[in-house]
Amino acid sequence: MVDASFLQRIREVAAPAGSTFEVRSPIDGHVVADVPDCGAAEARLALDRAANAFEGWKRTTAYERAAILKKWHGLIQSNEPVLAELMTFEMGKPVTESIGEVRYGASFVEWYAEEAKRIAGETIESQFSHKRLHAIKQPSGVVYAITPWNFPIATVTRKIAPALAAGCVVIVKPAEQTPLSALALSKLWREAGGAPDVFQVVTALDPKPLSGVLLDDLRVRVLTFTGSIQVGVHLYERSAHTMKRLALELGGHAPFLVFEDAALDAAIREVMACKFRNGGQTCVCTNRIYVQESIAPAFTERLTAAVAALKVGNPLDPTVQIGPMVDQAGLAKVVEHVDDAVKLGAKVSTGGRALSGLYYQPTVLTGIRPEMKLMQEETFGPVAPVLTFKTQEEALRLANGSPFGLAAYLWTADLRRAYQVSEALEFGIVGVNDGIPSTAQAPFGGVKMSGIGREGGHWGIDEFLDIKYISMGLG
Ligand code: SIN
Repeated sequence: MVDASFLQRIREVAAPAGSTFEVRSPIDGHVVADVPDCGAAEARLALDRAANAFEGWKRTTAYERAAILKKWHGLIQSNEPVLAELMTFEMGKPVTESIGEVRYGASFVEWYAEEAKRIAGETIESQFSHKRLHAIKQPSGVVYAITPWNFPIATVTRKIAPALAAGCVVIVKPAEQTPLSALALSKLWREAGGAPDVFQVVTALDPKPLSGVLLDDLRVRVLTFTGSIQVGVHLYERSAHTMKRLALELGGHAPFLVFEDAALDAAIREVMACKFRNGGQTCVCTNRIYVQESIAPAFTERLTAAVAALKVGNPLDPTVQIGPMVDQAGLAKVVEHVDDAVKLGAKVSTGGRALSGLYYQPTVLTGIRPEMKLMQEETFGPVAPVLTFKTQEEALRLANGSPFGLAAYLWTADLRRAYQVSEALEFGIVGVNDGIPSTAQAPFGGVKMSGIGREGGHWGIDEFLDIKYISMGLG
């Protein structure tokens, strides 16, 4: 069970509501906790509080904001074991990966604590001797952040640490599967001295009534969302009439190109890390592994052996590498994709079956065709489809022939090819001989249907700053 005193502490910070909903663990279905089921009324209240809090927070200095963020960072670090365990209970991530995510999530808070002090405007030369021109940056206002379940700490901090550092206030609506991690972050924020209304968490089973209020209100100036393309498109349309700035981190369908000059063991190590972290439930994990024909048989054989050796089981066991899928719908999609592929001619090299509960065997498939469902949408599960290509041109054509543009990967020992291919890939993130490129100081985000805007690095804080031009006449 989750540490009861910690649960009690984090419950205190949830915006109250008339009813509650259950958070069930995908490990075995037990109820981890009840949390408030907020609706339109709670959203209005949270927004009024946020708008009020903005008047004070925007006037703090970057140094004051940085000091609170630094304390918050320290508290996330010192609560690492309990946060990691909570995450594993909530969404089934293997606990060793949950520890990694707590560290990764904390790194955004640390980085933006430092970056707050580097927000800077410009002076611009004027053609008139009696004028001085300036561009200053100011916090945009209330931010509404809708966060996903697959990285319940890191996607929250990646969005809100830059917003808070910029002087914005935030309302977070975490995924209904993982409200507790977000509430825990909010609790630690308060313990760090952060004002409650500057960072609020509203939990809801059905986000529509709550989101409707926040989307329609002009006081919410930025919407930042990670989730499906379908919901992202809806939010984009819905935000048009209040002209919000949007950062949308939507789905991916990442190709991984393995060229024949690759060192196979190293390439397989990175493909495994890229594909199977978080049980394949990662926006940037590869969904299509393209291997040059001459090395395809050896690659597939070794990959199959590595995948068959993955340990599936209770994610609280530190030796387990693959935990359960997050919920029944997640598992059903994996089953549907593999069954559809097999029906259309795919061959199963290993895995291919659901186990008891929400667990699925890590799987390698060959004989993949473009019309298969897993080639058209994210599977979001431990399934590795292996395809082949003959030439660099063909590899690029296949990789780019997708409406998705979040992340892509390649493995080669040829420096010239590394540049040519990484520059030609139509994706926001490219890992060259690197299956896990994400890091706090780098830009994270996609092109095409994978979204707009960037999180991370100095790009991430600009999403929350307005540029104001001041022309000063000297008379
Ligand atoms: C995500 O899937 O949204 C997060 C993955 C990462 O940060 O690498």
